[in-house]
Amino acid sequence: MADTNAKLTVNGEEYELPIIKGTLGRPVIDIAALQDSGFWSYDPGFKVTAPVESKITYIDGGKGELLHRGYPIDQLANNAEYLEVAYALIHGDLPNAEQKADFFEKIRKHTGVHDQLRKFFEGFRRDAHPMAIMVGVVGALSAFYHEDLDVSNEDHREITAIRLIAKMPTLAAMSYKYSQGEPFMYPRNDFNYAENFLYMMFATPADIDYKTNDVITRAMDKIFTLHADHEQNASTSTVRLAGSTGANPYACIAAGIAALWGPSHGGANEAVLEMLDEIGSVENVPAFMEKVKSREVKLMGFGHRVYKNFDPRAQVMKETCDEVLAALGINDPKLELAMALEKIALEDPFFVERNLYPNVDFYSGIILKAIGIPTSMFTVIFALARTSGWISHWLEMHSAPFKIGRPRQLYTGETHRDFVKVENRK
Ligand code: CMC
Repeated sequence: MADTNAKLTVNGEEYELPIIKGTLGRPVIDIAALQDSGFWSYDPGFKVTAPVESKITYIDGGKGELLHRGYPIDQLANNAEYLEVAYALIHGDLPNAEQKADFFEKIRKHTGVHDQLRKFFEGFRRDAHPMAIMVGVVGALSAFYHEDLDVSNEDHREITAIRLIAKMPTLAAMSYKYSQGEPFMYPRNDFNYAENFLYMMFATPADIDYKTNDVITRAMDKIFTLHADHEQNASTSTVRLAGSTGANPYACIAAGIAALWGPSHGGANEAVLEMLDEIGSVENVPAFMEKVKSREVKLMGFGHRVYKNFDPRAQVMKETCDEVLAALGINDPKLELAMALEKIALEDPFFVERNLYPNVDFYSGIILKAIGIPTSMFTVIFALARTSGWISHWLEMHSAPFKIGRPRQLYTGETHRDFVKVENRK
């Protein structure tokens, strides 16, 4: 609600810009009145720009606070299942018992994928990165559900959200199985969401009774919850921007997966493990830190655009990390190296002065490695989990009128030139 105005004077003209307050966080200055001012606003990296109003997730980077639908992330991660959190992201609140049973049942019903989708997998090389496969096959889902792709139809939107959340673990596990040359394992609907994913990843026809233990299943589910949503980050903004054209949701989520893949975003969990490989052993940490300080490399899994104190997801993740390592009795030099790196970075003035703390990807990479998930699947797991957040934002956007996203630019290229025929060009 606008209760006061900011004033901006440009070229002697004064503009009244409404200040709008949300329920939490910084108010925003509505700059729509600049439309006729002859100026655009300029904010590379969207450092101070809020392109949307949203009710889904709130982050206070200074306090290290993350709320989904008003609930603190640690309470959700420690008490709720991922699918309950997904329900809250979509519907506005956690489900009651009846809503939970209904939602879980709907998800269970849609875990399978069309058998013809296998052929898409076969079109990829065996050594394709699973994220490359995911970008392709999730986008390809739009070719299988023509009849439910009217984005103006609420029922179509709802069934698509269910399908996406239900099928992501199946597709993710298929992308892994394909890379291993192993047969795909069909979903087991008697398992819970995390258990089913682990089953499809690790069971084989020769070991059909594969069952994981509760600590691992719970850790997997927490990893899903901790990655479920993170307000207007790069991939979510990509999903919204793609969605703003009226594109179908499978295509929008595929765009989100592509945006997530980069090492500055979801690709960081994989990059953490690659970095540990590069460092090799604890003795090499000081030399590596020198390279970080001279800006030759970044310390992957550290730092965040929004969190400048601590990442509340990383705190829960660290506890889970300790539980998993203790439960599995793992004694892996790579994990020791990670812990040494964390200790040094937390004490080193370079990191302390810049408020650089371990982020969610630092610990999730370590847990996933301990569980036996191959590094190339780390970002796929992030994408699987973030699908509930992406689709919630897509649904929120479609629940009210919206405009196509169309940023402006500061043009610094050549000014008007006369065309010269190729033979006369120097
Ligand atoms: N290692 C070394 N220095 C760093 C790092 C890092 N990981 N992150 C930031 N810095 C330095 C940076 O060089 C700059 O120093 P100076 O002011 O002296 O030039 C200062 O800290 C501020 O950094 P920035 O680049 O302005 O920060 P940003 O908000 O633009 O970038 C970031 C945020 C996440 C892209 C960055 O911290 C980074 O690249 N981290 C490593 C990748 C990573 O772990 N990404 C996962 C983020 S969490 C998962 C998710 O939500 O996507």
